[in-house]
Amino acid sequence: MNYKNNNFYIEKVKAENLIKKYGSPIYCYSNRRLVENIKNFTNYFKSFDPLVCFSVKSNYNSSILKIIKNNGLGADVVSDGELKKALSIGFKPSKIVYSGVGKKFHELKFAIKKNIFLINVESESELNNIEKIAKNLKKKIDIGLRLNPNIDAKTNSKISTGRTQDKFGLNDSDILKILKKFLHSRYIHIKCLSVHIGSQITQNKPYEKVLTAINKILSKSKYQFDYIDLGGGMGINYNKDNKKLNYLKLSKSIYDFSKKNNCKIIFEPGRSIVGDTAVLLTKVIYVKNNQNKKFIIIDAGMNDLIRPALYNAKHDIIPLKKNLSKNSISHDFVGPICETSDRFLKTKKYQKINEGDNLAIKDVGAYGIVLSSNYNLRPRPIELIIDNLKVKKISAKQSLNDII
Ligand code: LLP
Repeated sequence: MNYKNNNFYIEKVKAENLIKKYGSPIYCYSNRRLVENIKNFTNYFKSFDPLVCFSVKSNYNSSILKIIKNNGLGADVVSDGELKKALSIGFKPSKIVYSGVGKKFHELKFAIKKNIFLINVESESELNNIEKIAKNLKKKIDIGLRLNPNIDAKTNSKISTGRTQDKFGLNDSDILKILKKFLHSRYIHIKCLSVHIGSQITQNKPYEKVLTAINKILSKSKYQFDYIDLGGGMGINYNKDNKKLNYLKLSKSIYDFSKKNNCKIIFEPGRSIVGDTAVLLTKVIYVKNNQNKKFIIIDAGMNDLIRPALYNAKHDIIPLKKNLSKNSISHDFVGPICETSDRFLKTKKYQKINEGDNLAIKDVGAYGIVLSSNYNLRPRPIELIIDNLKVKKISAKQSLNDII
């Protein structure tokens, strides 16, 4: 995705033409970027050949999932719906892991019957339910125990999952207790220790701390886990101020860790696979001057992309046609929704914006369309994927009549 002659292109397609043809707002993905991200991720960690399960919650568009499956990844699911979707796309059960704090009895039973690779257990009660089901089915079930290591992932508090105050996982003493209790179980085989401390992590330190915490449990328990599931969380570069993960260093530490402990590694990345594969194309409806600031009112709202309103996330916004003009008063890019939090970005110095101009909100491939809603009774945006010159519509248009 880049400018050619001052026009923004997604692969070989001029973005402005997409708005002309399909209207706005539209989610628009690059096939090539997606495939490259998958290749890069697997390449970084190829020294220990991990099982990489894409976190379906970050984007469950069928076409996107098919590309991800066809490029060799498995699936990380967190609900009955996601599990059924992953199976329907053709992800092999032997490459599906299932996490979540509130799996219901029938959901566990379904997952067990489908022989998925791993259920990551987050409480002793959940494990008791799994044992009951296994006994009934006379099966031995492979499970993972999710550790809450009480480590701050140094990310937004709303997307941190590995501190004591967060609802996820089991603390180390519970893990040790469960290991003892289920050591000789006829129905439960504890195959994996799992951990996921948060999302949009841009520093290596929290991952290093996780490895240290796991090492401690391994030496205390003397238990041989076949797998260690390190979750996802790898951050992307939303803007210039973003810190960057050092993948080479991370890969080296995990390689050493897996050799030392003789275990295989699982990852559950979402954002790092799909985050930067999409833009949200939008049109300026009105430009409103209020004293010394400009409100740029665009036709994408918080119902289409909730990350800025919910997490204060900063997504860059770029014009589809660049010009050389400079305006140095404050610009507030806001949506049309009747809420003050329907605000995308505040920025100084922007090129002159006119009503009817077209823009792209960047890096919306992860937790974009999946968190969209019909709030204010607005239809959800359609999704397109670009492959070189080809444009493919990958979700159906919701008509206003349908939602009314
Ligand atoms: N594994 C587990 C158990 C998770 O809970 C998550 C994300 C992932 C893997 C994938 O994490 P990722 O690689 O995408 O960081 N809606 C928020 C993010 C919520 C993340 C929830 N869990 C946002 O828009 O930032």
